[in-house]
Amino acid sequence: MPNSILAPIDFPALTALPQWKRFTLAAQTCEVRDTALDIVQAPGLEVDFSGQRHSPELLAAGRALIAARGLDTERARLLAGEVVNITEGRAAWHTALRAPDAPPEVQAERARMDAWVRRADTERRWRNIVHIGIGGSDWGVRLAVGAFGYAGMWRQVRFVANIDGHAIEGGLAGLDPRETLVVLVSKSFTTAETLQNAARAREWLAATGVARPDDHFVAVTARADLALAWGVPAGQVFRLWDWVGGRFSLWSAVSLTTALAVGSDILAGMQAGAAAMDNHFVQAPPDVNAPIRMALAGIVNRSVLGQGSLNIAPYDSRLANLVPYVQQLEMESLGKSVDLAGHPVSVPTGPAVWGMPGTDAQHTFFQWLHQGSDGAPVDFILCQEADHHWPDHHRRLIANCLAQREALMRGKSLDEALVECEVAGEPPDRAAWLARHRVHPGGRPNHLIVLPRLSPYSLGALLALYEHKVFVQALVWGINPFDQWGVEYGKVLAQDIVQALEPGRGASVDVAHDLSTHHWIDVFRG
Ligand code: F6P
Repeated sequence: MPNSILAPIDFPALTALPQWKRFTLAAQTCEVRDTALDIVQAPGLEVDFSGQRHSPELLAAGRALIAARGLDTERARLLAGEVVNITEGRAAWHTALRAPDAPPEVQAERARMDAWVRRADTERRWRNIVHIGIGGSDWGVRLAVGAFGYAGMWRQVRFVANIDGHAIEGGLAGLDPRETLVVLVSKSFTTAETLQNAARAREWLAATGVARPDDHFVAVTARADLALAWGVPAGQVFRLWDWVGGRFSLWSAVSLTTALAVGSDILAGMQAGAAAMDNHFVQAPPDVNAPIRMALAGIVNRSVLGQGSLNIAPYDSRLANLVPYVQQLEMESLGKSVDLAGHPVSVPTGPAVWGMPGTDAQHTFFQWLHQGSDGAPVDFILCQEADHHWPDHHRRLIANCLAQREALMRGKSLDEALVECEVAGEPPDRAAWLARHRVHPGGRPNHLIVLPRLSPYSLGALLALYEHKVFVQALVWGINPFDQWGVEYGKVLAQDIVQALEPGRGASVDVAHDLSTHHWIDVFRG
């Protein structure tokens, strides 16, 4: 694997490209209120783009734009494991983790993990799993366990991420320590939250009389040396590679907890779905390439129309954790405003991502989506078939999803609202006044992503769809989606403040914190 820090590169600013001007103009001159159906078939799912702005000219301008940004070359470099993360000098080769012809070292680690899980299952060991990890070492596993273990598992699984002591206290409460396995996941094995929670778990095991607490730990990390030095037994350290970004790591042994909770075959199914989406991303022409089309629609919404956020609305309660998963994927990847040449990007980049499963979301914030001054594009996600035995529930769930989407697209004019009020028997003056409150602007963009059912294959495909969408958007904006320097700054300041908060440190600290931070350090030190 090449691992060199590349020299600063000459990279054209987006707004200097004639293809960008063409794309912008095409986006501004078409509307959502189009009557043509525009559905793209991809492995494990289909995406309805009918709720986005579209026109033949916008499609053509999008093709020209990605070609100008070198999509074919950059996609090939990504998938070949070349150094695409140029600020950190490494590859972002998560696709290798799910490829059927994965590199031998990846296959060997997969087999090791499967064998370990098989033995634990055969021996009916570890009734309790405490998964300790944060960010990319947490969300993907939470998502998969929630999606496929919602109806109960023979193992009890708890997740502990936050450094807040209540998290680890709740994570360990009531568990039988003899039957508890702690799965410690940290690519770097230096993350403060994870190490602090791991130390507390080890204290708890020791305090409850477990003879060899370290035997109750498994680690998944790119720093096996640190995990071994910490005390995890050699046979229980699983490998991750430097070329896997944290938020792209669930395809690896990071998902050990998934395998223990819901089975290795679930993980294999997700990998197969993601690998099929990888092929689609490579082979499908741009107009019928789901990640490319989603990326371009997102760029229209964010950079041309100025929409500051993206709402994720899974109409499936098993997918509650899809929201934070996509939030980290998109916001850690696209929350940048400097391009590869080191210049400010001249258009708005990655949106804020937020959401909640429908129908809960309808009773929480959909009012804002329908009639608020900003609104936001929405990704609706829906399964055609449910896995429960109550068809009426599912019919109503589908109806709610389609209705919310239709209301956002169609809107309601003043005339329509007026007729509604008159039919309801309102006197003319009041009807004219009330109708204005009942107008819906409509024309609000959305995707509808339909999965045949929530299979591991479809979920894997869905996650890879978002990964590749993010890659294409970063390429067009000209930013590096694989670093996260913004997260590091606060970590460094926190290290200093932790020391300043130690009792007996005196009234002030050494670092030049701002006045207010100084004040609160003094207050909290007591
Ligand atoms: O939040 C920053 C981050 O670096 C994420 O990218 C990563 O997923 C998370 O911290 C956890 O990092 P690690 O796996 O090294 O503990």
